[in-house]
Amino acid sequence: MPYLEKIWANKILTNGGPFHQQLEKALCDYLGVQHLALFSNGTLGLVTALQALRVTGEVITTPYSFVATAHSLLWNGIKPVFVDVHPDTLNLDPARIEAAITPQTTAIMPVHCYGHPCDVQAIQKIADNYNLKVIYDAAHAFGVQDAGGSVLRHGDLSVLSFHATKVFNTFEGGAIICPDAKTKQRIDHLKNFGFVDETTVVAPGINGKMSEVNAAFGMLQLQHVDGAMAKRQSIAAAYRDALQGVPGIRCLQSAGEQVANYSYFPILVEADYPLSRDALYQKLKDNNIFARRYFYPLITDFPMYRGMPSAHRENLPVATAAAQKVLCLPIYPALTLQELQRITQLITE
Ligand SMILES: Cc1ncc(COP(=O)(O)O)c(C=O)c1O
Repeated sequence: MPYLEKIWANKILTNGGPFHQQLEKALCDYLGVQHLALFSNGTLGLVTALQALRVTGEVITTPYSFVATAHSLLWNGIKPVFVDVHPDTLNLDPARIEAAITPQTTAIMPVHCYGHPCDVQAIQKIADNYNLKVIYDAAHAFGVQDAGGSVLRHGDLSVLSFHATKVFNTFEGGAIICPDAKTKQRIDHLKNFGFVDETTVVAPGINGKMSEVNAAFGMLQLQHVDGAMAKRQSIAAAYRDALQGVPGIRCLQSAGEQVANYSYFPILVEADYPLSRDALYQKLKDNNIFARRYFYPLITDFPMYRGMPSAHRENLPVATAAAQKVLCLPIYPALTLQELQRITQLITE
């Protein structure tokens, strides 16, 4: 209520108001990054990141993601070229990227899936060799750190989502992490229709601005996010403990991150589990437990992508298998140990 009262007193509801400015600064400090531009959602962040770097032609990306990753390319008239993922991390497999590069390729858009960092070094090496941009879809990677600091520092740009389902959320929201002030300025113009001042429009920008109400919720959430992640960490540990050694259930391991955010708890239901993945999903549902088949179907199975040569299942065996096996178990700070035990009992009994 005090935050809302402040908004009414300020009489500024949007267009880069005081809460917007505060949240940008607070997030830079919290995440350990230099420059960040808030957005009204992560998808507009992805669309704008591609615009900001003037990406065209073909972009190499992963089929194992939320559909917004590839949609952001289509919204820019760019052709996605799908490359398979690595079986351990389910992130874009760097060993398969080079074979997909053509003279039209201008960028790579990997995803830090479930907040597990991509093989950023290998991806950057390929990008440098072929003069490609790298835009990370970091929608899941809030607060994740590798040995050198925030994973958001990698690539040319990284895009976060602050959707209600995320570890840190502003109900709807997102951000682009930029390497320098000049890039942030271009992005700030692009998210405000291209306006530089009252009478000057320098680019065909979009409306991607975050409102003051959303930014105020972000300021509030930021006070609780460490506690929320600590609770998630203990929930993840309890799941691992309870599911360890259960035949046919494989828990995805971390990808070497020093600080994780425990945003998801994916398990893979393998062939030696007595039920199929969908039967287990249904069994949990019948018991009022709503696990998610995330990511299923693959992006490449949707009608606007499946006709593309790179979308064929033979090109994507690892992602195809993972989409058939994956189940993300409930994980959120208020999940109690008793509830967790009820879930794991249904899986193990
Ligand atoms: C990997 C990934 N990319 C992009 C998005 C899109 O973000 P938003 O919902 O904030 O537009 C999401 C989630 O919603 C996501 O999980």
